[in-house]
Amino acid sequence: MSIKLAVLVSGRGSNLEAILKAIQEGRLDAAVEVVLSNNPGALALEIARKYGVPAVVVESKRLSRQEHEERLLECLDRFSVEYVVLAGYMRVLTPHFLQRFRDRRGYYRVINIHPSLLPAFPGKSAYEDAFAHGVRLSGITVHLVDDLVDHGPILAQEAFPRLDDDTLEAFKERGLAVEHRLYPAVLEAIARTGINLLPRASSQEVLSK
Ligand code: GRF
Repeated sequence: MSIKLAVLVSGRGSNLEAILKAIQEGRLDAAVEVVLSNNPGALALEIARKYGVPAVVVESKRLSRQEHEERLLECLDRFSVEYVVLAGYMRVLTPHFLQRFRDRRGYYRVINIHPSLLPAFPGKSAYEDAFAHGVRLSGITVHLVDDLVDHGPILAQEAFPRLDDDTLEAFKERGLAVEHRLYPAVLEAIARTGINLLPRASSQEVLSK
């Protein structure tokens, strides 16, 4: 079943473009109803316009977090949106915003892509942190957003290697290629079968079984 998305962006927009391209090529049964950015200079806005998608700036400057989220929600109310997709959106969303997208099971229909194998290397500079740590293997995680940063239930992960002679740039480029394939594929899986998660339990619960 086709799903209706809002994509939130702050910058370059390469994941947004991968999603729009997958829709255009029939690999993803979805529609991007609106692209929202907190940054008026985001290149992602140009990409949205190129694909004929409404692109709206909701600036965060001089607003409290709650006021900004209220404005985002007011804007989203004008569209029919089933899932919010974060694609390089550089602001943390609070429960105030997330509650609006709560499903019957208590999950938020808000999805994020993060460039590490979570729970390793959360935060804004995951590529740099993994590279600096000297990992041999890193990866990409697509997950549901919860009340903590880079933390919610994992939808999909795909690993990629750090090769001996990699520069940071080469390492990032390998990861981005994975991002651009994985994000549309996960959204397509949601369009087909909804949100599928592995059961989550504390290690105590697992040990006592
Ligand atoms: C990507 O690396 C994504 O994983 C992270 O922010 C970056 C956004 O890049 N959350 P782009 O704007 O999609 O090109």
